[in-house]
Amino acid sequence: MTRVIAIASGKGGVGKTTVAANLGIALSLLEEDVLIMDMDIKMANLELIVGLEGKKATLQDVLSGKDNIYNAVYEGPGGVQIVPAGLSLPNLKKVKRSRMEQVFEDLIGNVDIIIIDSPAGLERDALAAMSPADEMILVTTPEVTSITDTLKTKLIAERMDIDILGVVVNRNQYYEEFLTPDEIESILEVPIITIIPEDDELISFFAYGTPFTVEEPESPTSNIFMELAAYLVDKEYYQPDVPKESFISKFIDGILGNIPFKAKKIKGY
Ligand SMILES: Nc1ncnc2c1ncn2[C@@H]1O[C@H](COP(=O)(O)OP(=O)(O)OP(=O)(O)O)[C@@H](O)[C@H]1O
Ligand SMILES: [Mg+2]
Repeated sequence: MTRVIAIASGKGGVGKTTVAANLGIALSLLEEDVLIMDMDIKMANLELIVGLEGKKATLQDVLSGKDNIYNAVYEGPGGVQIVPAGLSLPNLKKVKRSRMEQVFEDLIGNVDIIIIDSPAGLERDALAAMSPADEMILVTTPEVTSITDTLKTKLIAERMDIDILGVVVNRNQYYEEFLTPDEIESILEVPIITIIPEDDELISFFAYGTPFTVEEPESPTSNIFMELAAYLVDKEYYQPDVPKESFISKFIDGILGNIPFKAKKIKGY
């Protein structure tokens, strides 16, 4: 049976896409058969952070009846399968959200886990991204406004019978104004499943389309994503001893402009 897990929040910009991408890749590195679907069709950016922008068939094309979902699945970093939403604005007008049901009917049974990268808020697209999900991970920062918005999302998800797996507290750092983990848990009444610190390196990897979990496997933040993935599928994970790349090979890679990962198209299932 395929698990469908939505990564959702109330407020925008709290790290849903970062979590969806790195968690999906981490699950794939644990040999799970995973597909990440960008359902933020108006403000898509998953494809940018996994280096898959400019693909011919996207979710927009599928929802506008121009293509089928199998042509919109690409192999991403770490072997994860990715459905990019598409960046084209004119295409958006032709999108019919009612086609989404067929998309999930086609995918369910073909993969073990589908991770949905949801839009922020509670507008029509955000609700459409929640509706195929059986499970949800809430993402919030430790700010009061982010937590109160996340509470609204949680209440709606519960009404939709979605099982809330827990909260990821992202961009954590110490400020007197920020809420503590205990305060966050007691407001949301949901357990915190992981805390990701503010990490400047995530921002630069995000900008260059090279996901952190693949590029910096030995970093503490990558380790957090691997542990979260292992927890979700009830597997053991031990951080491997990754030999540090020598200064010389990094230097040579830098000069030659070597691209560490090259995306390729998956041919159907
Ligand atoms: N732990 C972190 N440390 C530092 N920067 C982070 C962290 N997590 C995410 N970011 C940065 O925050 C920005 C927003 O992240 P992201 O796009 O994942 O949020 P989002 O919730 O998907 O946003 P949206 O609601 O617009 O879809 C990005 O620039 C990302 O690199
Ligand atoms: Mg996003």
